[in-house]
Amino acid sequence: MIEAPTNDRPNIRINFSVDKMPGKVLCELKHISKHYGANKIVTNASAEIERGDKIALIGANGKGKSTLLRIIAGVESYEGERKWGHNVDESFYAQHQLESLGLNHTLLDELKTCGTQKTDQELRTLLGCFLFGGDDIDKKIKVLSGGEKARIALAKTIISKANFLMLDEPTNHLDMHSVELLIEALNKYQGSIILVSHDRFFVSQTANKIWEIVDEEIKEFKGTYTEYLEWKERMAKREADSKASSAAGEKKAEVKKVAEEKPVAQQPVVTEQKQVINKELKKELQKQQRMLQQLEEKINATTIEKNKMEAQLSDPSTYSDKDKFKQTETSYQRLSKELAQFNAEYEAAFEKVMELESKAG
Ligand SMILES: Nc1ncnc2c1ncn2[C@@H]1O[C@H](COP(=O)(O)OP(=O)(O)O)[C@@H](O)[C@H]1O
Ligand SMILES: [Mg+2]
Repeated sequence: MIEAPTNDRPNIRINFSVDKMPGKVLCELKHISKHYGANKIVTNASAEIERGDKIALIGANGKGKSTLLRIIAGVESYEGERKWGHNVDESFYAQHQLESLGLNHTLLDELKTCGTQKTDQELRTLLGCFLFGGDDIDKKIKVLSGGEKARIALAKTIISKANFLMLDEPTNHLDMHSVELLIEALNKYQGSIILVSHDRFFVSQTANKIWEIVDEEIKEFKGTYTEYLEWKERMAKREADSKASSAAGEKKAEVKKVAEEKPVAQQPVVTEQKQVINKELKKELQKQQRMLQQLEEKINATTIEKNKMEAQLSDPSTYSDKDKFKQTETSYQRLSKELAQFNAEYEAAFEKVMELESKAG
């Protein structure tokens, strides 16, 4: 685990009570297809979210994780069928949700809008965990920074009585202590979760299933992230072995497709040795994870700008104004270039994180 935090924020246990029990299957995705123009995200993909699932949706930037989460949340169009189970009471957290905060509410008022039964004192303590000090409580939402808004929106999601949480990059803007608290809370949470996160440590500590978008399909691995990495390594080794043996002219063993291979279902054995994480590796890992986060923010911001330029370019009024068109086109090309660069950096940092994690064990 992470080293003990050395600050004076309260170490409360966030109470994650669930109001009602949902059916065995919370959400069924049947033959879902989604594309943005020629950009195909999923094609004819099916999957199920069951009670007790804590799913981490992982994969490189731009794979469609946020899109899939929005489809599940019902705020994105798609083809195919999405079926809710009985008694599902869901709560969706994503960065853009920050816009729905009441600008004239104080922090305390805002927390109360989700109908929580918690006392003011409990809410104050909760706010403390999300890095809001005593002086901040009467601040209005409108004076908060983007990061502060993210933290208050997350705090709201956490105290809602939902039995199904959908969280898109919940650790963005949180420091290590808050991430630890969130991990603890999600572990104690009685409901089901699907989350998107590039923070591999966070994923390794919270998920009991891994989803990955591969070849426009949703691939499911039943196990923790650590088990998933081990399984991938085994598969890669097996593939390498079989290649070597077929090269030697031996009869090629029938190799099942990696994605079809059933993972070994076993409880993770957490040995003491495993818990001792090499400090240096961990520091480097955190640095790389921060870099990933920053790059993701840059990529998102650049994508928005680029999409804007794209829209302007296809607007007849831009087209008829030569200067404006030229300007827009230049910006568009610059943004495209930047985006490609950021994406390349993201891939590199992503690989580095994977490597460091397998070393850190
Ligand atoms: N509203 C949109 N219009 C067009 N393309 C989009 C839109 N939203 C996302 N995309 C594109 O779809 C792909 C998947 O995006 P997203 O779901 O945000 O990926 P991830 O969360 O895995 O990084 C990206 O290539 C992105 O540029
Ligand atoms: Mg995303």
